[in-house]
Amino acid sequence: MTDFQQPSLDDGGLDARYGFAKRVAKEAAERAMAFYVRRGSLAVAHKGDDLQDMVSIADQDVEAFIRGELARHFPHDGIVGEEGGSDGLQARCIWVIDPIDGTACFVNGLHNWCVSIGLLVDGEPLLGAIADPNHDELFHGFVGRGAFVDDTPLQAHGARHVREGLVGVGTTHRPGKEHFLPFLHALLDQGGQFVRNGSGALMTAYVAAGRLIGYYETHLKSWDCLAGLVLVREAGGRSSDFLRGDGLLGGNPYLVAAPGVYEQLAAMIGPSLDAP
Ligand code: IPD
Ligand code: CA
Ligand code: CA
Repeated sequence: MTDFQQPSLDDGGLDARYGFAKRVAKEAAERAMAFYVRRGSLAVAHKGDDLQDMVSIADQDVEAFIRGELARHFPHDGIVGEEGGSDGLQARCIWVIDPIDGTACFVNGLHNWCVSIGLLVDGEPLLGAIADPNHDELFHGFVGRGAFVDDTPLQAHGARHVREGLVGVGTTHRPGKEHFLPFLHALLDQGGQFVRNGSGALMTAYVAAGRLIGYYETHLKSWDCLAGLVLVREAGGRSSDFLRGDGLLGGNPYLVAAPGVYEQLAAMIGPSLDAP
């Protein structure tokens, strides 16, 4: 006998989770902002030997807040969180959360960070909410209902060639970084241009919003992009098969783009994008 209960998958149960994601993302972002304004006095630790991979007390506090809200409202749902690990992965509903995406920006006083909350139902991304308190924007979406920034619908860029817009990029010191410079070379060769803002979740939201025509990262974790994937698809964009293999827990290479330039960007990356 187990106390696991199937979540209600009628519209009511899923609606409640959508409202929850939007509310909690905003509240968590306000909470993070209270740390950000006094960031000079925050304790910052480094994960392992990588001095660029940081975590602050704010990341831990905000994730604890989100986990507390989840335990109160959806105690039978599973969770994958950057700071607290995974739990309850047998559940049909699994929340995938990044309490602060863009921690390096956060601790260095750059205004490019956000809170990202996504939900998988039966293994498929169903909804996402990304709250950016620096620009007072809440990006959100739900499969079949569209993607929005606040109340404004999002639509991916209409570009047909990389010359027509900006491509977000990112890399880490994890395996895959060797594909970064060849990609930039190909992009520039074909007349494209790139930006890196330091938050994978925000760059994904910007692809959904048509502000970027694409975003490539050599290796991302699911909490960086799960919420944003829903937005990109609902805004008419395309994405690589991020969840294949061990994507949920181990991550994968990642490309999201406007439909007219997805193939062009994927060809610049080559087979590493979809390698098993
Ligand atoms: C990072 C950001 C960054 C991306 C890294 C991520 P974090 O997340 O999304 O833009 O380049 O791959 O790890 O560590 O700030 O949550
Ligand atoms: Ca992240
Ligand atoms: Ca993070």
